[in-house]
Amino acid sequence: MRDPEKLEAETWLVSAGRPEGAGEPLNTPLVTASTFRHGADRGYSRNEGSPGWESFEAIVAGLEGGEATSFSSGMAAISAVIDLVPVGGEIVYPDDCYQGLAALLSKGASQGRWTVRKLPAEDTDGWLASIDSAAMLWLESPSNPLLAIGDVSRICEAARDSATLVVVDNTFATPLNQRPLERGADVVVHSATKYIGGHSDLLCGITVARSSKHAEQIRSSRTIQGATPGTMEVFLATRGIRTLAVRLRAAEANALELAVRLQAHPAIMATRYPGLPEHPGHELAARQLDGFGSMISFDLVDASAADHACERVQLIEHATSLGGVESTIERRATTPGQEHLPPGLLRMSVGIEAVEDLWADLEQAIAP
Ligand SMILES: Cc1ncc(COP(=O)(O)O)c(C=O)c1O
Repeated sequence: MRDPEKLEAETWLVSAGRPEGAGEPLNTPLVTASTFRHGADRGYSRNEGSPGWESFEAIVAGLEGGEATSFSSGMAAISAVIDLVPVGGEIVYPDDCYQGLAALLSKGASQGRWTVRKLPAEDTDGWLASIDSAAMLWLESPSNPLLAIGDVSRICEAARDSATLVVVDNTFATPLNQRPLERGADVVVHSATKYIGGHSDLLCGITVARSSKHAEQIRSSRTIQGATPGTMEVFLATRGIRTLAVRLRAAEANALELAVRLQAHPAIMATRYPGLPEHPGHELAARQLDGFGSMISFDLVDASAADHACERVQLIEHATSLGGVESTIERRATTPGQEHLPPGLLRMSVGIEAVEDLWADLEQAIAP
């Protein structure tokens, strides 16, 4: 077995999770069986997993430093983690976050399953004051879509020995840029649909827990609720994660260049990218992250200018989602649950195309 402690993350991504031994294939084959013959540890894949899931989980577990469980989607992973909250417990979550989380939390709150409270990501004192009273602190940094930066390190370290569970949605940062379990977070969750898969061709989620107790509880939710990943999806996610490091670094370089140009463009009212020195969370992001990611959000003057830009892009895809090799753009206030956002806000997931091609497309699309 390779040791993640002795290898750089880039090497681990490529070499982990492969079958070992002479004559074995280099890649874990697609095993499409739900059922296995009696007499060994694995009987039924919903209960005991499948070889492909284990390979994928081993790769992500080694990167984050914990025990991983894969799911049918990011939302399925999030639901299993929220299941850790005892009935009536309080969940504190960021006022800017993935809207699917907000929808799930308000549904459970309206059913009396838990109570919820929102805090701005930047309100570190508010987060610290919630340790002990809350059942769970849910962090998302950089946040979707405003790219706010919360002090993940400080909050996780402060809560490390408390009864309050700290969860970090690490989808935007990826395990290459941020490893919250090292700081004391209890669980990290990813939509593997995004950067980990990297090609917009699958839905998948994954959790990584620092303790075996939480990993077992999360796995038990997966078994009972049946939110298991597809065999093909995990095969593709494993193939995708092999190139995460090169994809992410290329996309990040593009994102920084585009953010600098957008910030100087007269049609742009605001540019949010944590890699810009002008971003209010820049210094914290520089301390806390190993890279600034490839998500940018920026504001045109109003909704109609932003819609117009989405209609005019030719190379950049006018589409939702993020983290693929291709650049995508969308006006986020059109998303249900995101109507409160600035009407002219465009969220762009920057891909790995040549940056001058991206800029030429963006420039003609945002021209008044
Ligand atoms: C930050 C974040 N977390 C979770 C999710 C949910 O993931 P999925 O769509 O794979 O269920 C998304 C999806 O956009 C996301 O952006």
